[in-house]
Amino acid sequence: MCYNLVNAKGDIMKNIILTGDRPTGKLHLGHYVGSLKNRVRLQNEGNYDTMYLMIADAQALTDNFANPKKVRDNVMEVAMFYLACGIDPSKVTIFIQSEVNALTELTFYYMNLVTVSRLYRNPTVKSEIKLRGFEESIPSGFLNYPVSQAADITAFKSNIVPVGEDQLPMLEQTKEIVHSFNRIYGDVLVDPTPVLPEGDYAKRLPGLDGKSKMSKSLDNCIYLDDSDEVIKKKVMSMYTDPNHIKIEDPGRVEDNAVFIYLDVFCKDEHFTKYLPEYHNLEELKNHYRKGGLGDVTIKKFLTNILIEVITPIREKKQELEQNIEYVYKVLEEGTKKAEEAANKTLEEVRSHMGIDYFSNESFLQEMKDKFNN
Ligand code: TRP
Repeated sequence: MCYNLVNAKGDIMKNIILTGDRPTGKLHLGHYVGSLKNRVRLQNEGNYDTMYLMIADAQALTDNFANPKKVRDNVMEVAMFYLACGIDPSKVTIFIQSEVNALTELTFYYMNLVTVSRLYRNPTVKSEIKLRGFEESIPSGFLNYPVSQAADITAFKSNIVPVGEDQLPMLEQTKEIVHSFNRIYGDVLVDPTPVLPEGDYAKRLPGLDGKSKMSKSLDNCIYLDDSDEVIKKKVMSMYTDPNHIKIEDPGRVEDNAVFIYLDVFCKDEHFTKYLPEYHNLEELKNHYRKGGLGDVTIKKFLTNILIEVITPIREKKQELEQNIEYVYKVLEEGTKKAEEAANKTLEEVRSHMGIDYFSNESFLQEMKDKFNN
């Protein structure tokens, strides 16, 4: 991928990538195919000036305000998963959202640029309100989290934001805030472009039930540190084709979670290793469609592939669990760097808004002139 964007003034802009996750639980295969893999690829392609990875603890608190321990514990958990998946802290700045004060301050100023009815119209927020049972009384912090997300993105002048499909409404709101801000106060903020993962299933990997998206609250996840035994048990419980009862029955590969996962994870070389009777996924699918191929065979095959994906991540994470101090240092240093960058933008924002009273002489001079002294 190549992004060489030019701003309104015709200057070549820097590529600044920013993305993040709420620390509310362990990361799972949905995160892996939907974002983690993509981030490691972007990191390794190196086509950027700065890449930030934010642990969005303040955003996590907007719907977990009564459960701060959960958020606190998962900050470290998420950081370890990042590193275990191959994020390299010498190339990527990993930081904790709430420790960057500028983000909260920017949020407060941006709130003036967004109406309450606009906040209610955000489709992702709408469905989350339903899911959380917030219909009766919505915490205003929760309703406002898209504004805080706009602060996350704009504080770093990020132009590239790799996200899942459910985050597109946040990017839409961010753009609106950028445009309003720049129109009213002058050109400061950068318009972000969302980058979605490639492939439909990568955008939305179904859970073990085959129906909804893989998600912790639905208890349908394979976690990136599950043991071989647990992976095996979970795959064996997966949804396939309910009409494929006897082995001889013809089966459907569409809407069949096992085949969806195979579409995402299986490579031809896996057949040589684990299922040499077939050469590729097309052959396997054709046999399943015709009848005569049992679910246990395809599930064992998938188990082997997933074990191959997860084992190195789990092992690296176990190593990091023995070296918490290292992970802590990574977070501390990353946060310091992020803070410096965000403070610079905040300073510009304050100056364009005319609330930079003590940063230079101009306020004093203006008032002196006004009152003739
Ligand atoms: N809303 C994102 C999620 O739920 C997390 C997030 C917070 C984020 N701020 C961000 C993602 C800024 C991208 C950019 O996963």
